Amino acid sequence: MRLYSVLCVTALARACLALSDEPHEQIALGQPFHESEDVNVDPLTEAFNAKVAHVLKHYHVPGLAVSVVRNGTTYAKGYGLANTTTSTPVTPDTLFFAGSTTKAHTATAVSLLVANNTHYPHIQWNTPLHTLLPEFILSDPYATTHLTLTDILSHRSGLPRHDMVLFGQDLTLPAVVEKLKYLPMTEEIRTEFQYCNLMYVVAAHLIEKTTNQSLYEFLKENLWSPLNMRSTYLDTAPALADKREISEGYFFNPSTNKTLATNLEYSPVIRGAGNILTSVNDYAKWVSALLARAPPISEEGYAALFGAHSIVAPVVKPPFSAPDLYGFGWALQNYKGLQIIQHGGAQVGFGAFVVLLPEKETGFAILGNDMMGMNQVSLILAFEIIDGLLGIKQEERPDWEKIIDTLFAGLKFSNETLAALYPDLPDKDSLLPHPLALDAYSGRYTHPAYPTLKITARCPERDVLKNPEKWTGARLCASFENSTSGSMSVDLALDLFHVTGTFWTLVSSTAGMDAGARVEFRISAEGKVTEVGVEFDDMMQKKEQKIWLARA
Ligand SMILES: *[C@@H]1O[C@H](CO)[C@@H](O)[C@H](O)[C@H]1NC(C)=O
Ligand SMILES: *[C@@H]1O[C@H](CO)[C@@H](O)[C@H](O)[C@H]1NC(C)=O
Ligand SMILES: *[C@@H]1O[C@H](CO)[C@@H](O)[C@H](O)[C@H]1NC(C)=O
Ligand SMILES: *[C@@H]1O[C@H](CO)[C@@H](O)[C@H](O)[C@H]1NC(C)=O
Ligand SMILES: *[C@@H]1O[C@H](CO)[C@@H](O)[C@H](O)[C@H]1NC(C)=O
Ligand SMILES: *[C@@H]1O[C@H](CO)[C@@H](O)[C@H](O)[C@H]1NC(C)=O
Ligand SMILES: *[C@@H]1O[C@H](CO)[C@@H](O)[C@H](O)[C@H]1NC(C)=O
Repeated sequence: MRLYSVLCVTALARACLALSDEPHEQIALGQPFHESEDVNVDPLTEAFNAKVAHVLKHYHVPGLAVSVVRNGTTYAKGYGLANTTTSTPVTPDTLFFAGSTTKAHTATAVSLLVANNTHYPHIQWNTPLHTLLPEFILSDPYATTHLTLTDILSHRSGLPRHDMVLFGQDLTLPAVVEKLKYLPMTEEIRTEFQYCNLMYVVAAHLIEKTTNQSLYEFLKENLWSPLNMRSTYLDTAPALADKREISEGYFFNPSTNKTLATNLEYSPVIRGAGNILTSVNDYAKWVSALLARAPPISEEGYAALFGAHSIVAPVVKPPFSAPDLYGFGWALQNYKGLQIIQHGGAQVGFGAFVVLLPEKETGFAILGNDMMGMNQVSLILAFEIIDGLLGIKQEERPDWEKIIDTLFAGLKFSNETLAALYPDLPDKDSLLPHPLALDAYSGRYTHPAYPTLKITARCPERDVLKNPEKWTGARLCASFENSTSGSMSVDLALDLFHVTGTFWTLVSSTAGMDAGARVEFRISAEGKVTEVGVEFDDMMQKKEQKIWLARA
């Protein structure tokens, strides 16, 4: 179950590594590229501006900003609105939350500790984390004592996302770390790439505990000030104190065709994994430094950050010419022979994309104020720039808009998505009834790490029910206790549809974003419901592993 909108981090592995997840068989490869475009020409041309105007409208994004650094020169521009109520235009100085592009900064902060052998000789990439943080304990003792900084920063810890742990619970960093031991692993360590925001929250905890500075203070002092990035933050308060203009965040609800404000909703505890608040002008300074391999990051630091530590997917998917890899907070791709170092960011109300093309001495940042729409917009604009840089003629370029629409249509939530959860169900007439009366399932279900789930047989009316095609007609409803999604001017709807026997489907819906998950109830010999199991994320779904919440 992916609760995109409410979950404040990039719930989207898709956005983070967008093009790596899905096949692209239908892509025409295009011709080998010609002369490159002159690197000294402004890439934000009239044609590019027209493209931006089109995608903003088409994908319902109110505004975005772009900066491109080319051979040492920065070109930057704002498009559309930062606030639709006040009609404030986006400028290159408008601040946006930039989601998981934060991870590169967290990893850089770790690289500064690793490089500092005077003060932190005990912190090296391959130091077992448990020796630095005795409180770092996982459910598996081998993983606890063997996981290193390299493992956690390259998403090969063995833990799946478990993003819901951060939902609606007002946690501190140490409290998140304290919960890790209750979270099941879905793989052996170092065997699979499993994108895990929680491990970047752990890295933030390591930095804060080691330096006795907040992550913000540490980054400001050691990275952002040296790079003259004076408009980069992890919270809104200091940005407002500095009189910076912050864009409102938005989401588009396709079932009502309305765009609503998120009221800058964010969760401070995900710093490390998300929450960077910045402008494209500041990101141009970041991109320039990375392209020039400038200090304060050491040469060894760059080698580690941009080095390949995990294989995201072992197969080559055209038009890419090598498997997707992951460094530390960076995805590494190869497109028509050109190395692309990139990371996306998706966070409630916002979407971001940072791309480095070291061989072309070019990099760019795209920041926008709608999460779902920006997934598509970022990719279309990124490849508009990249294809231009490669000198690929218009008529020979892949039709990115079509490719991306096809890709996202395939990911769209539908009856097929729900049917795939239970592919082997018998005919509708042979589905087994629920063994207990619906009221018998009502109650609070608790877990030491996950938020408390309240289940009731008294369901609210809904205009549209997103039920599977095959179900018995019995429905329960759920909510997370004390969750604060109300401030997003939209409710999180959790419906449980009875499928057969003790098996159900949970559908979460919010702002036009839906997801489904398998659910199972356990019933004792005396006929009482004792536990509910939910497959809260993709990896758990793949492994058919449930989080079991006990009836309180
Ligand atoms: C990059 O800019 C410098 C001047 O700043 C110029 O000498 C050089 O030729 C440029 N590089 C290319 C590839 O045009
Ligand atoms: C190493 O860390 C210490 C303590 O935080 C700091 O004072 C010093 O400037 C750091 N050295 C370098 C080279 O970053
Ligand atoms: C720094 O250490 C003091 C004393 O242990 C503690 O109260 C404070 O919270 C620490 N600050 C940070 C940012 O960790
Ligand atoms: C956008 O404008 C409205 C109306 O003035 C205001 O209430 C809201 O706080 C603004 N959003 C931001 C992020 O400033
Ligand atoms: C939303 O807009 C689309 C395209 O303009 C239209 O097909 C659809 O019927 C609209 N839906 C609602 C609920 O107004
Ligand atoms: C929810 O809030 C109530 C009242 O403040 C509190 O007693 C309860 O422990 C909270 N539940 C959780 C799961 O935090
Ligand atoms: C699945 O199809 C049924 C009609 O057969 C419809 O009521 C329901 O809304 C559909 N569910 C989804 C998720 O589209």
